[in-house]
Amino acid sequence: MDLKVEGSKIVIADDSVTILSKLEMLLKRHGYQVYKAYDGRQSLQVIDEVNPDLIILDLDMPYLNGLEVCKIVKNNEKTSLTPVIIITSSGIKEDKNSSISAGANDFLNKADDTLELTLKVESLLKLKHAIDQLENANNIIKSLAKAVEVKDKYTVGHAERVSLFATKIGKKMGLDEQQLKDITMAGLLHDIGKIGVPDLILNKPGRLTDEEFGLIQNHPVIGEEICSPIKSFDKVKRIIRHHHEKLNGRGYPDRIGSSEINIETRIMTVADIYDAVTSDRSYRKAMTKQEAFAILRESVSRGELDGQVVDAFDEVVE
Ligand SMILES: [Fe+2]
Repeated sequence: MDLKVEGSKIVIADDSVTILSKLEMLLKRHGYQVYKAYDGRQSLQVIDEVNPDLIILDLDMPYLNGLEVCKIVKNNEKTSLTPVIIITSSGIKEDKNSSISAGANDFLNKADDTLELTLKVESLLKLKHAIDQLENANNIIKSLAKAVEVKDKYTVGHAERVSLFATKIGKKMGLDEQQLKDITMAGLLHDIGKIGVPDLILNKPGRLTDEEFGLIQNHPVIGEEICSPIKSFDKVKRIIRHHHEKLNGRGYPDRIGSSEINIETRIMTVADIYDAVTSDRSYRKAMTKQEAFAILRESVSRGELDGQVVDAFDEVVE
């Protein structure tokens, strides 16, 4: 991974002109672009304009102090992952603790030597660039999911809706943060394997031959393969592979039964079926919510779907 930090944008806020100039010189010497603010309020404006890679805040500043600015920065979606260093002349332990609880990434005493500051700046910038690259990878995955929709005009918006429905059900059922993240991602990617199914088969208006049906039924396996290089996707890959399995073992591709189908996958299956039947298809019109739930409950009574998941969905769907 290329984590070049030269040229990174750093905002420094301090009401002391002397300190501000000293820091500016030091950081510019290391090849960084420096933007200055003289109080807390101004620092927020500069941060908003510059969208920096790192923010250095003096603890004591007029209007808003460093801790207040830090909290605002960390609560703003746009800047929540931007590293913040708080600097102070006091060096009191309480200041360090309150900086940490305000969400600051590091704390420095102005008396500390400059080497320490530059090392911390460099390591936080590397962290920021690593996060940015992860963000890019996430966007690439989302674009890939969109590519499936291009192949099949009847599925426009399907992945996003399934992801949203499934996440809502997961929240309602009290799943933890990581499970919800996996569900959101798996929802976007569950049909990614359709990239490997010929368009002619995906869009074939009439009946499919057994062979053609077999190719379509292979999409969960292809989907898992596409995501296999991504280490953090272990759970996501499992959900993708199993999103067409049924609790009674009559699904595909592995024909596994209820003991092997985890809650995340059960949720995905329900969300997927619901969105499919409530959307227009070439061979039929979209069903209403009531009709869709009748179908889901029928599947529950046949032992295919999890009744608790359908109940939870019934409570959250609009
Ligand atoms: Fe699917």
